Amino acid sequence: MEQKKPNQKLKRKRRNNTSHKTAYKTKLYLNKNNSTRALAVETLKENRLAINLAGLKLPNPTMLASGILGYTKETFKTIADGGAGAIVTKSVGLKPRSGYANPTVTQTSCGLVNAMGLPNPGIEEFAKEIIEAKRVLNVPLIVSVYGFTAEEYATVAKKAVVAGADAVELNVSCPHVRETGSEIGQNPTILKEVVEKVKSTVQKPIFVKLSPNVTSIAEIAEAAVNAGADAITAINTVKAMAIDAETAKPILSNKVGGLSGPAIKPIALRCVYEIYERVKVPIIGCGGITNWRDAVEFLLAGASALQIGTVIATKGPNIFKATTRGINAYLKRKGFRSVNEIVGLSHKS
Ligand code: DHB
Repeated sequence: MEQKKPNQKLKRKRRNNTSHKTAYKTKLYLNKNNSTRALAVETLKENRLAINLAGLKLPNPTMLASGILGYTKETFKTIADGGAGAIVTKSVGLKPRSGYANPTVTQTSCGLVNAMGLPNPGIEEFAKEIIEAKRVLNVPLIVSVYGFTAEEYATVAKKAVVAGADAVELNVSCPHVRETGSEIGQNPTILKEVVEKVKSTVQKPIFVKLSPNVTSIAEIAEAAVNAGADAITAINTVKAMAIDAETAKPILSNKVGGLSGPAIKPIALRCVYEIYERVKVPIIGCGGITNWRDAVEFLLAGASALQIGTVIATKGPNIFKATTRGINAYLKRKGFRSVNEIVGLSHKS
């Protein structure tokens, strides 16, 4: 029997499932009760930006990207106070790792190149920080996870969820640590095995963070979604390096690292655009976002949420508030009632 194809419009709607009706109800309610206009405006503003991301409620679509300010509850709190709608930790594995020798980060004329080598305290130790962080945070905490086998990914994800993680983000895209990261995310068969294993082990949403260093990121995204990914984060850093002309040597101890910052924004935007055309789960845009206009471009390309990282080094944690305010002003100026209304809008022209 031929299967009925689901209505494309309905399917799209499901992805952008935050209701702006709430905003209107709130407004009516407040007006009826003659409450202060200021409060009504504030509530409306909040609701215009609030999103439901694969079941997680975010007050706004901005998130701390993994790898930046990664491991302590104090820094998570500082970022949340700066206006982030969610926090993603630095990647954590099964066992503690010291990472590469210095130098691990270098600034270039167009962005940062880093190769830290996944330094982390291991999930047993980090679980204590997750428990503490959950006590002080009022936005979702997403734990980034890596492993050297599907079982390891699943074990770490499980421990993170037991400690209180609201979701896990699978790092299948670190561009330079052998036998993990992009070595998994560049191969649809291995990726499928990892995502399926994690999906059958934890009951929280699973985000899969993809590498741009592939022939077809849309094809990889499709493999992740077919295996059970609840959202796709695009993109991780672009494989890169820096050489010192004076010493005639590579600057990073690992020689090769990942480029982040404004230089990768057009690459990330293209990746989000291509993924949006292929899969129906929410996309979290990441790569070189430095202001509200970049954020809006990612939303128009098809991102439902946005991760911000490298720019925090120069602009500080309040970049989240500034970005959110800018998105809100844009929506208002253009007559949109919810941020969801502009997700993927550039595909319709
Ligand atoms: C590291 C770099 C990455 O781009 C990443 O995704 C994870 C880890 C690192 O060097 O630690």
